[in-house]
Amino acid sequence: MAAGSARVPVIAGNWKMHKTQAETREFFAAFLPLVAGAKHCEIVVAPPFTALAAAVEAARDSAVMIGAQDLYWEPQGAFTGEVSAGMLVESGCRAVIVGHSERREHFGETDDIVARKTRATLDAGLRPIVCVGETLREREEGKMEEVLERQFHGAFGALTAQAFSPILVAYEPVWAIGTGRTATPQLAAEAHGFLRSLAASRFGHEAAARLRILYGGSVKPANIRGLMAMEEIDGALVGGASLEAMSFAELVNYREG
Ligand code: 13P
Repeated sequence: MAAGSARVPVIAGNWKMHKTQAETREFFAAFLPLVAGAKHCEIVVAPPFTALAAAVEAARDSAVMIGAQDLYWEPQGAFTGEVSAGMLVESGCRAVIVGHSERREHFGETDDIVARKTRATLDAGLRPIVCVGETLREREEGKMEEVLERQFHGAFGALTAQAFSPILVAYEPVWAIGTGRTATPQLAAEAHGFLRSLAASRFGHEAAARLRILYGGSVKPANIRGLMAMEEIDGALVGGASLEAMSFAELVNYREG
C-alpha cells in the first residue's frame, strides 16, 4: 500500500484444511520470532476449527490475530457439524473468513448465505473477511464487474455504513487461487478500485476510503512487493504460502526486502 494512505495493511493466512494441533504449535514457535518486529501491518492466521484453541494459545502474547475459516449464522441449535459465532468468540477468535470461493463452489454458499454469515460475524463483534471474486470464465466473458457487484450487494446490501465499517473485503479471483497464476498488480488494483467505488456509492466516500481490500490468489514472497506497492491493495489473503513459517514471515515482512 502506498505511503500516505491511512489504511493499515493486513497480511492474513488461510490455512484451509491443513495442519493438526501439533503442527500449529510448531508453526507458531517458528513464526512468532520472525515477525516480532513487524509493526507496519496486522497479521491474521486462520487455522481449521480443530486447531483454533492451539493457535490462540500459541499466539497469546503476540500481535497475531486468530481467525476462523467459516461459521454458521444461528447462535445454537440442531445444525449438525456447524459452529456458531459465539463459539468462535469463546475459543479466542477475533476474525472470520466468510464466503471463500471454495465454500461458494464446493458447499453451495449463495450470496444470501454470505450475507447471513457476515451479519452473524459482525453481531458477535468478530471481524469478517468477506471474499469476492470472479471465475476465469466470468472474466473472459467480460463479467467481472457484474459478478463483483452482485457479490458485494449480496453480502453487504442490507448493512448500514456503521455496520459495514469493521469489514475487510478480500478480492480473490478464482482463476488465481492455488494455480500459481497471480493477478498482475494492475489487474488486482483495477478490481479493488471497482470494489471501492461500489463501497462509495453504497456507504459513502469516507467509508470507502477507510475500507481495506486484501488481494488473494497465489500471493508469494516473490510477488508480494509488487502487489503491496499499489495504492489500492491493502493487504493479502494467502493460502499455500501461509503454511510455512518462513514464507509467511517473508510475506509479513514485505517492507524490509
Ligand atoms: P493460494 O494463496 O494458495 O492461491 O490461496 C489463496 C486463497 O484462497 C486464500 O484464501
